[in-house]
Amino acid sequence: MIKINKLERHYKTGDVIVKALNGVSFEIKQGEFIAIMGASGSGKTTMLRILGLLDKPTKGEYTINNLNVVDLPEEERGYYRLTQLGYVFQDYALINEMSAAENVYILSLMEGKSKKESFITAKEALEKVGLGDKLSRVPDQLSGGEKQRVAVARAIAKKPMILFADEPCANLDTRTSAQVLEVLKILNKKFGQTIVMVTHESWHTKYVSRLIKLKDGLIVSDTKLPR
Ligand SMILES: Nc1ncnc2c1ncn2[C@@H]1O[C@H](COP(=O)(O)OP(=O)(O)O)[C@@H](O)[C@H]1O
Ligand SMILES: [Mg+2]
Repeated sequence: MIKINKLERHYKTGDVIVKALNGVSFEIKQGEFIAIMGASGSGKTTMLRILGLLDKPTKGEYTINNLNVVDLPEEERGYYRLTQLGYVFQDYALINEMSAAENVYILSLMEGKSKKESFITAKEALEKVGLGDKLSRVPDQLSGGEKQRVAVARAIAKKPMILFADEPCANLDTRTSAQVLEVLKILNKKFGQTIVMVTHESWHTKYVSRLIKLKDGLIVSDTKLPR
């Protein structure tokens, strides 16, 4: 599904060039649940942003289903992001004035679905993450773990080909982190959702099917994990 080859991303600050990614190659198959780990500054976020078409590499190749997604015009990359990819970030990025259902619903509307269809999709997605009874709660009336599950529901409502999550449990305690990870695991195992997740907690790896470790912009290990 995903193939990257000799990917590099250089950042220039003044005269200094940082090679945040320094020649990374791997493939991701449909249905994998991948954790990307590594010390702070090892290039995890840079990698996820490039895979999620939120940034471009300085060098190297990146294809999704044999389509060269790096060189697509920006409008097509935007359309691809909207229709094919889902994102969960550590700060939830929910709209405070809107209910859980509306936060999920708005993305379907943006995709051009009818109001009725959007509501049904939102309700189904919230049921999948175990929030079917909290549709009308606004973010202030939800716990951190519940907010993150709304963000997961929003991301999966459009049935993305790939779900990207950058430290989705960074602001959660252990118990609520486990709830969010359990939801991701069910999405992956039961619904076959492909997930790429950045994390810094080694206990999170028990939920995933493969672990890629980065160090200084390079892959130092790539391991399939039993589940
Ligand atoms: N926008 C940027 N401008 C300059 N340097 C950056 C930028 N983003 C990241 N970096 C540098 O690239 C390296 C990798 O960063 P990042 O991908 O955020 O790592 P991680 O997510 O693993 O902590 C770090 O040295 C970081 O300082
Ligand atoms: Mg990061």
